[in-house]
Amino acid sequence: MARQKFVCGNWKMHKTVAETAALVRELRSALGDAAGEVQVAVAPPFTALAAAVEAARGSAIEIAAQDVHWEKQGAFTGEVSAPMLADVGCRHGIVGHSERRQLFGETDEAVRKKVGALLAAGVRPIVCVGETLAEREAGRTLEVVDRQVRQGLAGLSVDELGRLTIAYEPVWAIGTGKTATSAQAQEVHAAIRRILRDVGAPVADQIRVQYGGSVKPENAAELMAQPDVDGALVGGASLKAADFIAIVKGALR
Ligand code: PGA
Repeated sequence: MARQKFVCGNWKMHKTVAETAALVRELRSALGDAAGEVQVAVAPPFTALAAAVEAARGSAIEIAAQDVHWEKQGAFTGEVSAPMLADVGCRHGIVGHSERRQLFGETDEAVRKKVGALLAAGVRPIVCVGETLAEREAGRTLEVVDRQVRQGLAGLSVDELGRLTIAYEPVWAIGTGKTATSAQAQEVHAAIRRILRDVGAPVADQIRVQYGGSVKPENAAELMAQPDVDGALVGGASLKAADFIAIVKGALR
């Protein structure tokens, strides 16, 4: 069975409420039937999630959160829980983004807890993994990705594994304009698929593995044409409607 491509825009710390509503409306009118053939989501900041859900209502565009805390509620100043994300209408939640890992000390153990919390709340995790430049140059790419995938997904049932997405995002390609070649991406995606067969054989072939890191209209179609590249997690280029639309259309080719 062919996996449906899944393209998600990660807006990071960009866009006000008004800008969010405007961009979602622009995407929904331009994407029309393409959103549906390709699964499409956008991840605005927490402050704009409600506006994004409202602007996307009745369309095929889904809304994702960029992070989550693993506790349901409590004295965790500044944090947002998975039930809160479900309540506002989020379908997906990004966890383990390299910016969270590098700038905010997110560990594999925190990723695992966040994945569990999202699944328990009915929100589908997008679990980010990827090596730094130093790790790649030291020949440790597959070892790092193997650890991040196994530890991030530890203890999940086959049914739970079937509800998540992995995003392979080489850290050296994020926001740098340097993209992995399609061959480099495919090599790591195939390795991730082997790990998934090991930890969740019955669903391994249905789990989508997105590529992220300087995905642009010019490189998206070739990356997503690789057999194990099932979509994209798009940062900078998702902030401009025309670029994001072109990337989604690249998934149709
Ligand atoms: P980028 O970011 O597309 O701007 O490189 C990707 C990401 O961080 O998800």
